[in-house]
Amino acid sequence: MIVTTAKLFEAAYGKYAIGAYNINNLEQAMGLFRGNLQSKAPFIIQISKGARKFTHKLMLEGLIRSADEVFPEAIFAVHLDHGDEETCYDCINSGFYSSVMIDASHHSFDENIAITKRVVDAAHAKGLVVEAELGQLGGVEEDVKVSEADAKLTDPDQAKEFVDRTGVDSLACAIGTSHGAFKFSGSQSLHFDVLEGIQKNLPGFPMVMHGSSSVPQEEVRRINEAGGKIAGAKGVDASQFKRAAELGVTKINIDTDGRLVWTRVHREFFRDFPEKFDLRDPGVIFMNEYANFIAAKNEKLGSAGHLDEIRKLLV
Ligand code: G3H
Ligand code: 13P
Ligand code: ZN
Repeated sequence: MIVTTAKLFEAAYGKYAIGAYNINNLEQAMGLFRGNLQSKAPFIIQISKGARKFTHKLMLEGLIRSADEVFPEAIFAVHLDHGDEETCYDCINSGFYSSVMIDASHHSFDENIAITKRVVDAAHAKGLVVEAELGQLGGVEEDVKVSEADAKLTDPDQAKEFVDRTGVDSLACAIGTSHGAFKFSGSQSLHFDVLEGIQKNLPGFPMVMHGSSSVPQEEVRRINEAGGKIAGAKGVDASQFKRAAELGVTKINIDTDGRLVWTRVHREFFRDFPEKFDLRDPGVIFMNEYANFIAAKNEKLGSAGHLDEIRKLLV
């Protein structure tokens, strides 16, 4: 069942975070639904601009509608990830999405507010909620100077002003993470002080953590052993998710880790079975592995086991 993102946030706030997983294809969709049902978790499907362009924007929509029929017990929201203004309007008007993210964080503070406010007005008129971003995502090492870190991180006072002036429903905050597989070269530092400051200024307001893949070292080792070259990849310590959730993070975005599962499965498969060429053979392995990966991630997020409780809230 496709539900509004707001309802999921309401149920999760302060207790656990909802996993927001990017998908691009059929095998990911199947693994995603199976893994979330396996772990009895509500979830958010994220579609990026790149995912919409990968085949045709209607293809993923069709896949998700079909998955909704195949897995009627699933409860999830559909979200545009890192949208620009034009893509946000396209998704808002499509009648399919639960929520959109307008990413205008690269603009000045006032311009970010102006753009976000236009998207919020359009989305709210159609019953969708909006996520915006404030601050610059980027790995912050433990030994980085405070002044350098502060320049990137979200300022809690600005966050309050931003939310008041835009009416936005959730906020992606920069707390020291970055996208992709190479987040830190030294040891990581997640800035819980930023979350604490925002929670104090905006009690009950949902925050979003981007760039939250853990980049498991065992996964990286296996990929490299099977011919990959991604040495030095490092991610976020998943044991920190629950602390973030208590401080108001209700959505945690994970894409890279899923790509690593895909890469490991396919590299190992073709290394071990060089004579094979049926795409369904590694596809079946990937769907199972991806489902297990999602279920394990939901345990870390704390969302596992909350499906029936959400179902009751919805009736
Ligand atoms: O934050 C970006 C997500 O990982 C989506 O990546 O734009 O390559 O689809 P993408
Ligand atoms: P990762 O690259 O850490 O998976 O982050 C994904 C993300 O933030 C999608 O918006
Ligand atoms: Zn992101």
